[in-house]
Amino acid sequence: MSFRIRLHESEVAFEGDPGESVLDAALRAGIELPYSCRKGVCGNCRGHVLEGSLVPGTEGGAREAGICDANEHLLCRARPASDLTVRPRHWQQIDPAARKTLQAKVFKITQASPDVTVLQLRLPAGVRAKFKAGQYLQVLLPDGTRRPYSMANAPHDNDNLQLHVRREPGGRFSDGLLPTLKTGDLLAVELPHGDFWLREDSDRPLLLVAGGTGFAPVKSILDHIVRQRITRPVTLYWGGRTPADLYAPQPVEKWRTALPHLRYEAVISRPPEDGTWTGRTGRLPAAVLADWPDLSGHEVYACGAPALIGALREACVTQRGLPADRFFSDAFVSQAG
Ligand code: FES
Repeated sequence: MSFRIRLHESEVAFEGDPGESVLDAALRAGIELPYSCRKGVCGNCRGHVLEGSLVPGTEGGAREAGICDANEHLLCRARPASDLTVRPRHWQQIDPAARKTLQAKVFKITQASPDVTVLQLRLPAGVRAKFKAGQYLQVLLPDGTRRPYSMANAPHDNDNLQLHVRREPGGRFSDGLLPTLKTGDLLAVELPHGDFWLREDSDRPLLLVAGGTGFAPVKSILDHIVRQRITRPVTLYWGGRTPADLYAPQPVEKWRTALPHLRYEAVISRPPEDGTWTGRTGRLPAAVLADWPDLSGHEVYACGAPALIGALREACVTQRGLPADRFFSDAFVSQAG
């Protein structure tokens, strides 16, 4: 027996098959909801179930990480036990023409740090990628699986794609296919994906917070800010365990020159004992809390591991008065295997 799932304050409704998640049922019906990992970890699919009941025991780790409010559900895990009315954070009818699968050619592979590879892809002649600053693509692997990576280039720089890939031991792409790639090889990618992109209809000050390779979409956003001559005050926090995790100093130097309204804070949680790191130490949420007594007038864009996103959300929204709908996040989930 299937259940009817209705989207709040709309005429849109679709059927959910037994055992099927709300997200899968929506996608099957041509409705796009925000999502990334589909494992209950990143929290990107969180939303409210206003009417009806769910099969119990299907919540994921995003709740423990603090990415969800207590009254939100993960729609990639939520399975209906009755007809439902749901209120996702966003939804849209899938426009089949908006998302494209492209065959990109490997142009350059750079080892930016012992763990991070910067992969530069070129699109076929005359083909341009269409995306918003901060969005991601899916690498389509030969075995049918997919791996999400944010574009690190800005939308205007659209004849190529730059990906920052952290090596995950045992990961099918980062530890499997990637080390075998060479210049000229083809890689299938599908884009754009995601609702982590810069909202430009605002002049509020921005906090951009990146953990490790969460820097990639933040780089896209900052390159876009330079290009569009956006003058909103921007504070960039980039954190890692060691200085090597802050693997791309060149763009930061470029932005410091191009954006007089940029403040940059590099934060390391495990500084080397030889004293070579003289910068800030500790964790990103603590740094944000120390610097900002009140974030009620800001927008925050945060990208990194789920635990970091949960802690930042707690710091910014609960402790510093940031309205929850101005905390934009993209939680990177480990893709080992
Ligand atoms: S897509 Fe549901 S938690 Fe990641």
